[in-house]
Amino acid sequence: VSGVGAMLRPAARGAWNLNQRRDISSWLARWFPKTPAKSVVALKTPIKVELVAGKTYRWCVCGHSKKQPFCDGSHFFQRTGLSPLKFKAQETRTVALCTCKATQKPPYCDGTHRSERVQKAEVGSPL
Ligand code: FES
Repeated sequence: VSGVGAMLRPAARGAWNLNQRRDISSWLARWFPKTPAKSVVALKTPIKVELVAGKTYRWCVCGHSKKQPFCDGSHFFQRTGLSPLKFKAQETRTVALCTCKATQKPPYCDGTHRSERVQKAEVGSPL
């Protein structure tokens, strides 16, 4: 046996591993919170996009993306604990994708943005 590990007493090695494990779990808890944040209202009207058959899209769920209605990675960097909705277009067609994040048919707009609840909400805030 050689190297730094052999020079440390077993007890010291155990303590080092425990500290390392604590660091990793606090890092994980910070970047992947167990309780996800609430989605925020990105906009109050849907965005029309042409989906291409067979192509995969990532619809923004958290509402923080600057590339609405699609994901730009903000859910991760703002530590929301949320993930985008990945979907594959079955056919090429223009659809209205939800940006208020209150639709019951994600990723599509179902008209919920017209409700008083959404219209009175502040952009960038949860409902
Ligand atoms: S934009 Fe969300 S339901 Fe229409």
